[in-house]
Amino acid sequence: MKRLVIISNRVPPMKTRGRAAAGGLAAGLSSALKAFGGLWFGWSGEVKDTQETKVSTHRQDNYTLATLHLSRENHEEYYNGFANRALWPLCHYRPNLVAYDRSFGVGYYRVNVLFAEAVMPLLEAEDTIWVQDYHLIPLGAELQRLGAKQKMGFFLHIPWPASELVITLPEHRALVRALFAYGVVGFQTDRDVQSFLDYVIREADGALEPDGRVTCFGRTIHVKAFPIGIDAGSIATLATQPEATAHAVRLVDSLAGRQLIIGVDRLDYSKGIDRRFSAYAKLLGKYPEHRAKVSLLQIAPPSRMEVSAYRAMRRELERLLGRINGEFADYDWVPLRYVNKTYNHTALAGLYRTARVAFVTPLRDGMNLVAKEFIAAQDPEDPGVLVLSRFAGAARQLREALIVNPFDEQSMVDALHRGLKMPLEERKSRWRSLMTNVEEHDIDRWRESFLNTLTAA
Ligand code: UDP
Ligand code: G6P
Repeated sequence: MKRLVIISNRVPPMKTRGRAAAGGLAAGLSSALKAFGGLWFGWSGEVKDTQETKVSTHRQDNYTLATLHLSRENHEEYYNGFANRALWPLCHYRPNLVAYDRSFGVGYYRVNVLFAEAVMPLLEAEDTIWVQDYHLIPLGAELQRLGAKQKMGFFLHIPWPASELVITLPEHRALVRALFAYGVVGFQTDRDVQSFLDYVIREADGALEPDGRVTCFGRTIHVKAFPIGIDAGSIATLATQPEATAHAVRLVDSLAGRQLIIGVDRLDYSKGIDRRFSAYAKLLGKYPEHRAKVSLLQIAPPSRMEVSAYRAMRRELERLLGRINGEFADYDWVPLRYVNKTYNHTALAGLYRTARVAFVTPLRDGMNLVAKEFIAAQDPEDPGVLVLSRFAGAARQLREALIVNPFDEQSMVDALHRGLKMPLEERKSRWRSLMTNVEEHDIDRWRESFLNTLTAA
């Protein structure tokens, strides 16, 4: 492969602006492209009143970052609308949160055409193109319409839901058809692949070929699970750097000998933070021995605040925070610390390493990189315990975590209690298996297995 071109809605933050990006996609792909070089194309993160579409380029690490802004209308219909009011809730099994408007679909396709037209002049004949995530499903087909002949793959970072949910979307057929423009379509887990195949075979008369490929809409493509990983070595190294240690020391000082439970999530209803808070309150109610002996630190950088379901979740978390601290706090103990700030990976690595328990309880998640980062950041001689929702893609790999059902509060309370009490030997042995898995299925393996499949396609 001569050059890799990654196209995604969200691109990594420009180093010159120095802000950390919260979100698995930017985190996962930054290390993939750093290793490889090439071009990364996407939205600059800016919304402007003008319709003019100028691409800005910027050299960073060993790749070129090319970005364009969105007009207000495109941002509303494509990003806030179709992507985050329709596709996101639907793919996370929350049809009740889907707010669908015909203009959203129109805006979604308009921005995909805009992206295709803007990136086309930057492409070279030998490029390999890798399109990312639910914002840009139709992009490959649009590029082909403009004459692109390059190899193209697509990876979905979020779950692919059951067909009964997919068919509630007015554009479902066009959307699935668009995926067949790519040579390889990758999902996070086998379950997502199964759901996709179920749609293709039962709703679109597609067929599975003897060699495992899938035929539909007159095209035959590869459809496979490629569970995304992290740069485990780099997180492990970061966790012992002086900057990370400085964060850890500050946190340890503030804990005054108490055990730390940590949660790190974008402020998103799919992450189940509200149920997590309630389970923590139940723990304090049911097991008084933990009162004044533990603190839950929830880091929750705000996300997609123009979408009302996100604002509602924020209000709900603030309400629960007040209730729980009001009920249990003492003059020298705040049971629940809730922080709406974004931290960089160095700070997070130090905080993860300080925690006795990571409380990762999404109601649905494509993968969940936080679970893997927590494992990578631990001290092998005194590792913490991962409590993980069975509905995170990561639970299919991280089997030695304490797996919980976030819809069953009692299972979360029991796992928290068990994690806080777990003897050192059990913590070490679980952690070793988990770490082996995180190291084996790391970000390099993810990138290589996807790109090898695409190159061979
Ligand atoms: N993250 C971060 N700073 C924060 C909170 C989160 O850098 O303050 C990162 C986190 O380290 C992880 C990513 O955001 O790499 C979240 O990825 P995950 O797959 O867990 O969830 P997503 O946000 O993609 O749904
Ligand atoms: C998830 C999605 C990504 C997205 C990220 C942050 O990881 O799969 O596509 O970039 O969340 O969300 P945002 O809307 O801020 O890009």
